[in-house]
Amino acid sequence: MINTFFNLPFEIKKSYARKDAYSAGYVEPSKEILKQSDNVKELRESFDIIGNFDGFIPNEIEKFERSLLKMIEMGSDFFSKFLRCLEIGLNLPFGTLQDMHAKIYSDSNMSTLRLIHYPPIPFEIPENCVRCGEHTDYGTITILFQDNMGGLEVKNRNNEWVQAHPVPGALLVNVGDMLQKFTSGRLRATPHRVLIPEEERRKRCPRKSVVFFLVPDNDVILKPFEEPKDETKSYETSHDYLYSRLISTFNF
Ligand SMILES: [Fe+2]
Repeated sequence: MINTFFNLPFEIKKSYARKDAYSAGYVEPSKEILKQSDNVKELRESFDIIGNFDGFIPNEIEKFERSLLKMIEMGSDFFSKFLRCLEIGLNLPFGTLQDMHAKIYSDSNMSTLRLIHYPPIPFEIPENCVRCGEHTDYGTITILFQDNMGGLEVKNRNNEWVQAHPVPGALLVNVGDMLQKFTSGRLRATPHRVLIPEEERRKRCPRKSVVFFLVPDNDVILKPFEEPKDETKSYETSHDYLYSRLISTFNF
């Protein structure tokens, strides 16, 4: 299904272009630059499903909408269970995290399902190119399904980049910025990137992944759990933090 969508003619994909931070749609290569320095070019395209996506699903592909809805349903179910596990692990009252994500897939929550396609690398590689620049994800957690091409690297606590090799049947979970804020850094957002492969065979092969970014409801305040309430202090909302990250990385 991912192949079918990304194999559509560019003009058709472009007719479903994502228009702003709130809308679903196609993101062409170089529209989103995650690493904001060194004039890096990022070779990937994606299709994002966010909030209320009525009218944004390409009708050129049979059963596309149904498959996406199924993925959203399965992802939402996983998140609910995972958040409960986090509540137990962090000693939080029952429902603390689940209640913060109660409006997933509505206009009041910006969680996003993203299909990503990294095209084969051209023979003449432009300068400063990567497939995906170094960054941390913005929300609570991210789940990632990757194909068997590999290439994803994550930074460990010793500041070393290590390969996140694909494991058949496994999904990868990343901690995002907002969970780091909630836990005062006890759980740290994981820096990650996808470089141009060194091996010739892998350079010429596309890479695909399916990513689901879980974000708290728009009005959730990003206050650390352990910090006492202080009326004199102000905190960002989930919406404001995410919006500021999106407009600094997207060229809508
Ligand atoms: Fe990411």
